[in-house]
Amino acid sequence: MDQKIYLRSTKSTNADAYALAIRGAAHGVGVLAQEQSHGRGRLGREWISPPGTGLYCSIIIRPSLPCGEFPRITLTAGLALCSAIESLTSRPFGLKWPNDLYCAGKKCGGILVESSPLHQGAENLFVIVGIGVNVNTRGNAFPLSLAGKASSLFMETGLPWDIDMLYDTIHASLLHHIALHEKQGFAEILKEWRLRDVLYEKEMQWLTTEGKVIRGWGMGPDDEGQLIARDGEGGVHKILSGDVQLLKEN
Ligand code: BTN
Repeated sequence: MDQKIYLRSTKSTNADAYALAIRGAAHGVGVLAQEQSHGRGRLGREWISPPGTGLYCSIIIRPSLPCGEFPRITLTAGLALCSAIESLTSRPFGLKWPNDLYCAGKKCGGILVESSPLHQGAENLFVIVGIGVNVNTRGNAFPLSLAGKASSLFMETGLPWDIDMLYDTIHASLLHHIALHEKQGFAEILKEWRLRDVLYEKEMQWLTTEGKVIRGWGMGPDDEGQLIARDGEGGVHKILSGDVQLLKEN
C-alpha cells in the first residue's frame, strides 16, 4: 500500500505533494486533507475547499514516459477519476476537456496537474495529480457564482460517500491508468476518454490565446489530446487553453 499522508488542514495538497516529491517521495505517495485554505484550481483559479464535504488530494506520479508525453497525463488522470467514480456510483459521469468531472451538465470535480522542472535527470521527474471532488456537498453550500453549475456526488446519487474510501478507489484507478498509458500508449487512454466526452458535438464557447471568445461545437480531442472544435462557418480550431464552456446540455 502506498503511503497516504493525512492532514487536517493545509494550504494546498498540491504544494505539499510537490515539496515531498522534490525531496524524493515515491511514485504513488498521496496527500489527503480535510480542508485547504488556498486550494488551487486550473488557470490560476481558487478551489474552494471547506472542511469535511470534499475530497482534496494530490498524488505523486513518476511516469516511465518521455517528458513530451507529460501534458497528456492530464487526460489519463481525468479518465482514471471518471472511471473510479462511475464504478462506485453506477451513474453516468463524463469528462469536460481537459479534465473536469461532470454529471448531468454540472461540474462535480476537477484535476490540477503540475510537473517538476523538466530540465533535471529523468529519474527526478515527477507529476503531481491534484484532485478535488465535491463529495457530500449540499446544493445550498455552493457559492452563488456556482449555482446551477456545480454538483456533488451526494446531489447526484442521493447518498453520502466515505471520502477515505473514495481516495483509495481513485488512487488505485490513477495508478492503473498511468500503467496502461505507459504500457499500451496514449491511444488506448483516448479511446476510453472519448466515450466520456461531454463536449462532443455540443455547443460550447472558448477563449482564444488572443482573448477572443468563439462559439462552436466540440469535435473531441485529437490524437495528441488537444481539443478540436468547429465554428459556425465550418472553420476548425485547435484549442490550446483550457477555458472552455459548455453552452447547452442536451
Ligand atoms: C480545477 O478544476 O480547476 C482543478 C481543481 C483541482 C483542485 C485540487 S483539490 C486538491 C489539490 N490541491 C489543490 O490546491 N488543488 C487540487
